[in-house]
Amino acid sequence: MPQIRLLLVTLLHLLYFAAALAIEERATPGSFSLPISRASEKYQAGKRSITSSVSGTHAHGDILVDITFGSQTLPILFDTGSTLLWVTSTYYTGSLSGDFYYNISASTTWAQIPGYTYSIHYVSGSNSTGVVGTDNVSMGGITVPGTVLGAANSGTPSTAVAGFIGMPRGSMSVKNSAGTTINKNTFMQNIASSLPTPIFAVYLPWGSGAAASSIDFGYIDSSKYTGTLSTVPLISGTFAWAFTSTSYYVNGVKHSVTSTTNGKAIIDTGTTVLRVYPEIASTFYAGVTGAYQDGTIWVFPCSTTTFPSLTLDVGGVQAPVSYEINFGFYTTLPNGTRICGGGIQVETSSEMIFGEVFLASNYVVFNDAASTIQIANIVF
Ligand SMILES: *[C@@H]1O[C@H](CO)[C@@H](O)[C@H](O)[C@H]1NC(C)=O
Ligand SMILES: *[C@@H]1O[C@H](CO)[C@@H](O)[C@H](O)[C@H]1NC(C)=O
Ligand SMILES: *[C@@H]1O[C@H](CO)[C@@H](O)[C@H](O)[C@H]1NC(C)=O
Ligand SMILES: *[C@@H]1O[C@H](CO)[C@@H](O)[C@H](O)[C@H]1NC(C)=O
Repeated sequence: MPQIRLLLVTLLHLLYFAAALAIEERATPGSFSLPISRASEKYQAGKRSITSSVSGTHAHGDILVDITFGSQTLPILFDTGSTLLWVTSTYYTGSLSGDFYYNISASTTWAQIPGYTYSIHYVSGSNSTGVVGTDNVSMGGITVPGTVLGAANSGTPSTAVAGFIGMPRGSMSVKNSAGTTINKNTFMQNIASSLPTPIFAVYLPWGSGAAASSIDFGYIDSSKYTGTLSTVPLISGTFAWAFTSTSYYVNGVKHSVTSTTNGKAIIDTGTTVLRVYPEIASTFYAGVTGAYQDGTIWVFPCSTTTFPSLTLDVGGVQAPVSYEINFGFYTTLPNGTRICGGGIQVETSSEMIFGEVFLASNYVVFNDAASTIQIANIVF
């Protein structure tokens, strides 16, 4: 009996210390970690049938967080590449084809702001427009009464995502009844003063690591990266998390970007692939046997197992791109060769888009107040 008791006491102590350590790791009160899921997991969990090929070993798919509007919890795309918070709603004039929409008539907390509207077009080609109101909105256990958001009444339908939460620098804008643009606080601006530091950190490991994907608010989790965080200054004057990017290394050989004199890129959790200047993609895929462009899309034999090493310039820091370069099955050639799509694709505008494929290799801390991001190699 005494031995058992001693064991129990020891166990309790161990548990206590484990809990204390866990709390320390979670940093100061007010910070929180938000689990994320991928649209592909939602499909695989049987929520809906798989509508496009999603390879089980790959994690890519829209980055979703659970957000509660009033008392209805919906999967919302977490997007550092846009500004607005909006949700598909029963104001929608088309058919509500998905399970995922905010039922306004079942809500006691929604309050429409008369005459206010929003409209947004994404580079992917999708769009959303609707009315604007306020609501009690919760994310990660923090509720913000009076959050301004859009309730969609038209736009591109989706069966996997109920809406977007923009995570920009600065505020978001809507239109009042006179058509004048009015700035409103984002969710992040609303919670910033209740966080120990007004930052969030994105951790999106791929493959079997994807289950641990999270967004940490108000703290940096040193167990999620190796080495030291490098601090990168942001380009001001845009809502995007933008920085200069003028060079890259393929297999250790340095190249300078020549197609533009103002090379720059943004970190965008709302884009699945990594979009780089055509010259970077060409140099990279020159090192992949059998790679070719189908139209503009870079593809290669699925049997490819090794790729050139690649690093990209993030405001003076060279960041690796090591995972998800095989983005999954694309097509089968007449002779039976299976062809896969590349996670690295071309961007022909002046601004490269470092999406999920980039984030699979890099832990990134977003700090609007300091006008910086911090970056280090991811651990998983
Ligand atoms: C919205 O909620 C109301 C009240 O609970 C219900 O009667 C209605 O069927 C719901 N509408 C939709 C489209 O889900
Ligand atoms: C919404 O927030 C207000 C203000 O904090 C609060 O009084 C109210 O109880 C909340 N409503 C719901 C349904 O949670
Ligand atoms: C919005 O997207 C829908 C479907 O994706 C498209 O039919 C519509 O033309 C788009 N609207 C605008 C204004 O671009
Ligand atoms: C299949 O066809 C492609 C495209 O013509 C060619 O590159 C490849 O070598 C062929 N593979 C085999 C096994 O014949």
